[in-house]
This record gives sequence, structure tokens and C-alpha cells, in this order.
Amino acid sequence: MELYLDTAKIEEIEEGVELGVISGVTTNPSLLAKANPSAPIEHLKKICSIVKGPVSAEVVSTNFKDMISEGLKIAKIAENIVVKIPITEDGLKATKVLSRENIAVNMTLIFSESQAILASLVGAAYISPFIGRLDDISYDGMNLVKSISEILNITNSKSKIIAASVRHPLHVVQAAKAGAHIATVPFKTIKQLAQNPLTDIGLEKFLKDSKGISIVN
Ligand code: G3P
Repeated sequence: MELYLDTAKIEEIEEGVELGVISGVTTNPSLLAKANPSAPIEHLKKICSIVKGPVSAEVVSTNFKDMISEGLKIAKIAENIVVKIPITEDGLKATKVLSRENIAVNMTLIFSESQAILASLVGAAYISPFIGRLDDISYDGMNLVKSISEILNITNSKSKIIAASVRHPLHVVQAAKAGAHIATVPFKTIKQLAQNPLTDIGLEKFLKDSKGISIVN
């Protein structure tokens, strides 16, 4: 499973890429607003230059025609940009048109298997079920990822699952087991993935035991 960063903050993306574990970025209108860019298109261009892999940028239009023209503008930002479109009837129609033009679409705000099936049928390159927001209302978000993974396998779909709305390290591990191709993860959670108190205790003991003896010096 690949890891993407779920942020629009340049400094977080630079640090995440430097860690060597990030192969893409997802943004949404809320995340973009939080990063507070003076020029959104330039900001997204910069993100696309920092990360080699796919960078999702979401349309804010809600009707079919405007979604298409916004999607086409977003698609011009960079080669690795992915147009993010919410799963609505207009969103499905727009995804079908953009996918036919070989524009990669990430269908977002997926909360059910039926929505995932439709997203796959219109040719979405990525399907983003929101785990945390389902957990928030007492539904098992991870169960949805597992179920979508089974369906996409049975139907031989080319769409990739991006486990989104990830809130903590366990979500990442569970998403990998559930069959997600990608988990998009907040910066804080990426850092938490590496942490373990036993590692800290172990390292402290090794350094203390070494009594300053170094193999190379
Ligand atoms: O990118 C969409 C998604 O990851 C949002 O997460 O935490 O706002 O539910 P959250």
C-alpha cells in the first residue's frame, strides 16, 4: 500500500517527501483554505513540483458543466494533477467525460459500496472512502474499505482505493489489511507511524551500553 499526504501545506509536503515514504498528495477545499495560498493555482503547481506522484485538487462547482470546465482547468496545472470530484449525479457525469479525455479523477466523499460501484463504472482512477467520518457516526469505516476492495476485485475494476479521512496509525494498518491501494494520511499521523516508546527506550540503552565506542571512529 502507498501513502499519500492529506494536506495542502507546503512545509508538511516537503518534510513528508524527505522522509521518503510519501508518493502522492490529496487536497480538498478545506485543506487548501487552511494552507491559505495567495494564488491557489500557483500553490498547487508548487505541490506538483515537490511530489512526483499524483496530487488531487478538488472542484468546488456542483453542476455538471461547471465541474467539467473547472476539471479541465485543474487538469492543466501539471502532469501529475488528479481532478477530485464529489460523488453526486453531476459528479458522475463529469467524471465520465473527464475520464474519457484521459484525465485522472479521484471520486471523493464515498460513504457506501453503491457509490463506489458507480464511481468505478464512470472510470474514476481513484475512489476515496472516508473512514474517520463513518467511524464518527458509529459505522465501521474500515469495513467499507474491505467491502469496496472485494467488489473491485470481483468486477476487475481498474479504480484504486484511497482510504481517506484517516485519523490515526491504526487506520493506516487496517487500511492496508483491508485492501486499500493507498492511504492518504495527515502529516501528524505520518509522524506517529514511525513512533514507538520501545524504540526510544532501546536506542537510549544501546547508546548508554556503547560507552562511546563507535565502529567508524
Ligand atoms: O481528503 C479528504 C479527507 O481525508 C478528509 O478527512 O479528517 O476531514 O474527515 P477528515
